[in-house]
Amino acid sequence: MPAMYYYTGEKSLTIDSMNLYRNLVETSPNIVVLTDMSGRVHMCNARLFKLTHYEPEFLKNRNIRDIISTDEHCQVTEQITASLLQGKRRKIQCHLRQADGNLLPVELIPSLVQASPQMPEGILFVIADISDRTVRDQQIHTLLQELRSSHQEMQALSRKLMQVQEEERLRLSRELHDGIGQALTAIKIHLQSWDHTSTEQQQKRQQCIEIVDQTLQEVRTLALTLRPSLLDDLGLEAALRWQLNQQTKNSGIKARFSTNLNGQRLPGEVEIACFRVAQEAVNNAIKHARAKTIALRLLLMGEVLTMEVEDDGRGFDTDKAWAKAACGKSMGLLSMKERVALASGQLHLESDFTRGGTLVRVSFPVGGGRDE
Ligand SMILES: Nc1ncnc2c1ncn2[C@@H]1O[C@H](COP(=O)(O)OP(=O)(O)OP(=O)(O)O)[C@@H](O)[C@H]1O
Ligand SMILES: [Mg+2]
Repeated sequence: MPAMYYYTGEKSLTIDSMNLYRNLVETSPNIVVLTDMSGRVHMCNARLFKLTHYEPEFLKNRNIRDIISTDEHCQVTEQITASLLQGKRRKIQCHLRQADGNLLPVELIPSLVQASPQMPEGILFVIADISDRTVRDQQIHTLLQELRSSHQEMQALSRKLMQVQEEERLRLSRELHDGIGQALTAIKIHLQSWDHTSTEQQQKRQQCIEIVDQTLQEVRTLALTLRPSLLDDLGLEAALRWQLNQQTKNSGIKARFSTNLNGQRLPGEVEIACFRVAQEAVNNAIKHARAKTIALRLLLMGEVLTMEVEDDGRGFDTDKAWAKAACGKSMGLLSMKERVALASGQLHLESDFTRGGTLVRVSFPVGGGRDE
């Protein structure tokens, strides 16, 4: 690229070029300093004194190094030499030392002033004050750090919340099963042992037994839905098989389950995350998709577990659904995303609302398997 552009012919205006350059230097918003090859100052504009607060006498018989931060002398000298040798105008960031000892962040561009290509006579420094930019950069840096740490806090809080939720579900589930469930069974046994001769009493006793049976069934289902003991006792494969069957059994939807896991146990965190994602994805397919079939596939390849929940329903606009979720209008997709992220997994959601079909795929690193 040329250094200058002339549109009306270089010589068409009679300009005193010395006057022109003097004007440019005097009115420049940047500091302009001309030194000899050793860095001794020959000339500078008033901008230098405005920004550094020195008196003009200060620079008499001085080197440009005298106004550069002492800590940066070596590094800046090296960069200036490299820039001049390469003949490229490199921007060098450093600090000017002001009269009161404060440091001013600047960007400095050195270039050679030559009488002829082989005869460099001096160095021209154009120095821009970048304190505004530096303050802005620092503010952005601080904001980014704050954002990063609040994100980490949110994640830790989320993880704790889900852990507490799972513990609470486990406690409730055991309480229901062992406490209320056992009590109901005891009532049933007592009722069965009652020996009434009148038919009316016999009928009432039978009715009571039926009500207890029904309640017992409901309590068992509730306990299992809250946290299937299968998940803790037999692992993900058994729990998913049972859960898929439970969720689809009265829906008229055909469920297909396939896996290569062979009952292998995986890290607890991954088993719970996978189970909850499947629960929500299958629930969504039943609730929203009008699907005929739901396929759940669980595949362990090397150290990666992949689970897919696929339906052949009507599909949906995922962008719109995420936007809706972001406004707090739905929870399912967000909680899937959160659970997957907390177990260091990846979530892929694909849906075609013109041709139909939805696929939820999650994958998790499972490392060396389950820590007992
Ligand atoms: N398999 C699917 N087929 C069709 N639409 C779906 C499917 N999964 C999700 N959707 C659409 O995406 C939206 C968001 O799903 P999300 O699970 O976040 O919320 P929800 O199921 O409506 O409510 P909830 O908070 O109880 O889960 C749903 O309202 C539905 O329109
Ligand atoms: Mg949902």
